[in-house]
Amino acid sequence: MKKVIINGGKRLCGTVEISGAKNAAVAIIPAVILADGPCTLENLPDIMDVRLMLLLMKELGAKVEKITNNSYRIDATEINKTELNEKYTSDLRASYYYLGALLGKKGKASVASPGGCNIGNRPIDQHVKGFKILGAKVTDLPNGAVMVEAKEEGLKGNQVYFDIVSVGATINIILAATLAPGFTVIEQAAKEPHIVDLANFLNLMGAQISGAGTDTIKIQGVEKLTGCTYSVIPDQIEAGTYMVAAAATRGDVIIKNVIPKHLESITAKLMECGVSVSDDYDDEIHVKCDSRPKSCNIKTSPHPGFPTDMQPQMTVLLCLAEGTSIVNESVWGNRFRYTEELIRMGASINVENKKLAVVEGVEGLKAANINAYDLRAGAAMFIAGLAAPGTTEISYVEHVDRGYEKIVEKFKKLGADIERADEKDPVHSEFFGD
Ligand code: EPU
Repeated sequence: MKKVIINGGKRLCGTVEISGAKNAAVAIIPAVILADGPCTLENLPDIMDVRLMLLLMKELGAKVEKITNNSYRIDATEINKTELNEKYTSDLRASYYYLGALLGKKGKASVASPGGCNIGNRPIDQHVKGFKILGAKVTDLPNGAVMVEAKEEGLKGNQVYFDIVSVGATINIILAATLAPGFTVIEQAAKEPHIVDLANFLNLMGAQISGAGTDTIKIQGVEKLTGCTYSVIPDQIEAGTYMVAAAATRGDVIIKNVIPKHLESITAKLMECGVSVSDDYDDEIHVKCDSRPKSCNIKTSPHPGFPTDMQPQMTVLLCLAEGTSIVNESVWGNRFRYTEELIRMGASINVENKKLAVVEGVEGLKAANINAYDLRAGAAMFIAGLAAPGTTEISYVEHVDRGYEKIVEKFKKLGADIERADEKDPVHSEFFGD
């Protein structure tokens, strides 16, 4: 178990650089399988989930060469396997993107049960529906593993109408359809920035995908893709986390290497709370908070709505705000467990039906020993610890290391008094020899 100790109550001030987007990187890495040549991926965040996706690529027989901590050359042209067992797949959700990528390139795949944060039911019925519509047979294997196989006549473009908006299903169907002959239309597609980033990467290699970022994505299947060099977009949620941390500590922080357009919903909510947010430059945002924030209501929803992955962090700010806020979680069925930890820090939160949190703002939080239950809940615990005067100890920080590059170093650079209780490299040092 990894621990972090924070002596909180200090204003965060200074500049922080945002890393590449986790949820774009974990889709783009398996997409390399579709290329008939090596790809160089740049601006990959150096986090556990990315390292696991690269290890899975190696398991399949791809050559994975580290150029720097944030860039890798991947040659998947000679992969010789289409099966991934539970070694690593159960450590993260995105392992199931190997289903779409291998199906699209090799016509078959089987992947052991994916893992990911425990934030509610995570069915894959929409992925399965899409694969079947494109002409695949889908078989459930023991222990949650799934096998997909193109029928004899191969995959063929078709119309896929999703019943709900799903990031993962949209990505998996894009991966499966890119090389499928004919025309695929995805209706009710997810519109997150990482969907657009994946489509941009594939188009650079020769795919014909239009409409990414809207409800309707159109894919004209192409015969082959060529390798390329591509730089992943900045992480919207990492940026949002530092924006809220700045506000919660009444700090003054410049957040660099961002796409302000991707942060609009977070910016809007912070401004509603009375926090000053300015984006005078194309790639940076300035957050400043001099007085107690005001309450506001939040409802999470797919992009461009308020991101569910920012819900726990924003709730910490609302705990400190003047007045009552209502937080409505409409994407995941069980994403309020972390509120127990905030209540131990003196927050006043009432969760109703696992869907709604009524937050009565308090003047301040008290330091405590708390747990990081999952990735974003863990990031929220960092913010709470930074805002609360006294010594807060956060356990299970490995969840946070899955998705935040150098989080302790970045907060330290902003003036936080924060240390890891263990000395070892947070992102398992045995991987890739460092
Ligand atoms: N859903 C279904 N059936 C499906 C797929 C999804 O009912 O076949 C439901 C889910 O149960 C959920 C909703 O649809 O209630 C949305 O799920 P979605 O498929 O969009 O989520 P995901 O692809 O599993 C990605 C991110 C999550 C993020 C969500 C929503 C990755 C690797 N994960 O998950 O990120 O919360 O989209 O934006 O991209 C995180 O980074 O901390 C994280 C959890």
